Amino acid sequence: MSETKTAATSGLELRDPRTDRSYALTLLERGTEGDEAVRASDLRQVKVADDDFGLLSYDPAFMNTASCKSAITFIDGDKGILRYRGYPIEQLAEKSTFLEVAYLLRNGELPSQDEYVKWVHDITYHTYVHENIAKFLTGFRHDAHPMAMLTSALAALSSFYPQAKDIFDPEQRHISIIRLLAKTPTIAAMIFRHMKGLPVVYPDNSLPYGENYLSMVARMSEPRYEANPAFAKALDVLLILHADHEQNCSTSAVRAVGSSHVDPFSAVAAGVAALYGPLHGGANEAVLRMIEQIGHPKNVPAFIEEVKGGKGSRLMGFGHRVYKSYDPRAKIVKKLADEVFAQVGMDKDLEIALKLEEAALNDEYFVSRKLYPNVDFYTGLIYRSMAFPTSYFTVLFAMGRMAGWLAQWEEMLLDKEQKIARPRQIYVGPGERAYETKLTDFQPDMRKDSIRK
Ligand code: ACO
Repeated sequence: MSETKTAATSGLELRDPRTDRSYALTLLERGTEGDEAVRASDLRQVKVADDDFGLLSYDPAFMNTASCKSAITFIDGDKGILRYRGYPIEQLAEKSTFLEVAYLLRNGELPSQDEYVKWVHDITYHTYVHENIAKFLTGFRHDAHPMAMLTSALAALSSFYPQAKDIFDPEQRHISIIRLLAKTPTIAAMIFRHMKGLPVVYPDNSLPYGENYLSMVARMSEPRYEANPAFAKALDVLLILHADHEQNCSTSAVRAVGSSHVDPFSAVAAGVAALYGPLHGGANEAVLRMIEQIGHPKNVPAFIEEVKGGKGSRLMGFGHRVYKSYDPRAKIVKKLADEVFAQVGMDKDLEIALKLEEAALNDEYFVSRKLYPNVDFYTGLIYRSMAFPTSYFTVLFAMGRMAGWLAQWEEMLLDKEQKIARPRQIYVGPGERAYETKLTDFQPDMRKDSIRK
């Protein structure tokens, strides 16, 4: 941006009536889908006096701030579009596999046959975790939340791979990405077994990715586990649907933490912690708890009224910061739920969910606020029908999102414009004031005194 005497001929013009100065704001190069932006740091030129800090942009929760340029995922929230590297989510969910999608997210292109074989081989080869990780997990109480265990285990994993700190070595980045994609399902399954008090089942690397995970979760005394094909397909599709969602809360956490140049194990542990929250990935757990609380389809109208009255409850699994029409993932998940329920049967909770959805989609409160089911509305029901405990659902979300976190982390590292994430603030606390204690029993050397006591 530069100060102008005349109106800007291209870009935007900003006039500051305090100084009667005008500034030409340069518009950044358009994004592929036509997004336009001004560079927030350009506003720093706008000053009342020379020693001013300059104008800040204020954007709590980053509602209208692009924190990066990204070539990974595109969302048009109004039109209900989601694409990974240009490919519509509907096509990927129908035709691809999670590991092919993980490759696509990271590398930008679909793999050739040879590339795919190598990628799958490398990930399969690294599924085992150090035995101390299994021991580490036994330190948790049986009722510890699985997301707390996953956050800790991934952070702990960083201590097993100190070379992973060398994030500007492409080989180190590559092996860390392979390890995280390979070991997260193993750790997730160990957490499941710990919750159930069952012995750990080690990976069976003759099985495909999803089936190998299901084997580690469910195998008992049988020599080889055969997953229900409907469950194996549902898991793979859900992993694809969860794989990336551009700059959401957990991905922003991974990018922000990764921007300090910490190793990727620590960065994705931050992503898991962010995903745990009920407003983000924890919503699938919250949906099930809400349905349990409703208890019966006949109670749905009263619950909807309670939500509209704003008495604390939200309709969990509804609404999205970006989608202001039907979440395209929710459409796919609903179809998937039908397939899974055809195997395990319809139950009361599904009836409640269908009734809730119907009631909300026909209610002025939800329609006017553009609140539609999001991906989490049905995923919990699918996971529960596969016999996963409610508190465990978000772990399955994290397994899929790992692919996106890693792709976004690497893109952030290689982006020359990125620096350590460090937002500004608008300070609204007291101005400078002199210290004067309010303690009546004041001792001249308080620190020593408190140690003595
Ligand atoms: N139930 C009832 N009312 C809602 C809901 C809901 N689920 N979501 C938003 N609203 C209402 C708000 O009360 C507000 O109403 P008002 O204008 O009368 O005050 C209006 O809709 C706008 O809501 P905001 O909170 O400003 O919307 P925001 O974009 O910040 O929130 C969010 C998005 C957090 C997802 C929200 O819709 C929500 O809490 N949904 C339930 C939790 C959920 O399902 N999260 C999963 C998101 S998907 C994911 O992370 C994978």
